[in-house]
Amino acid sequence: MTKENDSLSAKALANLIKSRRSIRRYTAESIPQETILRLLETAVWAPSAHNRQPWRFAVLTQATDIERLAATMGARLRADRTADGDDPAEIERDVARSYARLTGAPVVIIVCMSMTEMDHYPDPHRTRNEWIMAAQSTAMAAQNLLLLAHAEGLAACWICAPLFAPELVRETLALPPDWEPQGLITLGHPAETREKNRAPIDTKAKFL
Ligand SMILES: Cc1cc2nc3c(=O)[nH]c(=O)nc-3n(C[C@H](O)[C@H](O)[C@H](O)COP(=O)(O)O)c2cc1C
Repeated sequence: MTKENDSLSAKALANLIKSRRSIRRYTAESIPQETILRLLETAVWAPSAHNRQPWRFAVLTQATDIERLAATMGARLRADRTADGDDPAEIERDVARSYARLTGAPVVIIVCMSMTEMDHYPDPHRTRNEWIMAAQSTAMAAQNLLLLAHAEGLAACWICAPLFAPELVRETLALPPDWEPQGLITLGHPAETREKNRAPIDTKAKFL
């Protein structure tokens, strides 16, 4: 590859990164399994601590599975917010919105991580750091997935809800016991556009 090509593809990559948005509404068009597999196979080229590849992905394409998950998570959201003493009407709006977001996506990917192949330590400090490294590695693969989906003209959004109810998600979907849900990605063909800004880089980075 020439230097010129290198810089051209760097520019294309920069544009791709900048133009990706979290899209929460999708058309009814389904996504072929080959496409999902292609995204996953590429996403896992993310770096990972010790190259242990702690990411795990549970892919839901059946509406009944997505509905079951959405209903279960909605019930948990309702219970948690009721316990917080929030306004019941506001809770129902939130529950309905979360249900519609999930069931409106043709594909839902539960992003999980497993500690089985990570290092194990006798002390809580290093155990926690190893867990964080697994979570960081998993998030990198997830970001790859979001970018690749965007590159294919698809749209996606990371949703954090499974992190707040990991056992519930694991039970509802009968996931292996070592799979720790970190979040989920809704995926589909975009039915909306979004705009976002970023804070100036000098408020987030310093040359020391
Ligand atoms: C860790 C994480 C958790 C998020 N959780 C949610 C969520 O629960 N619901 C949602 O609609 N968006 C969620 N998002 C998407 C963010 O709202 C979105 O990335 C942010 O507003 C910036 O917009 P952009 O992705 O279009 O640039 C999450 C993003 C990240 C990285």
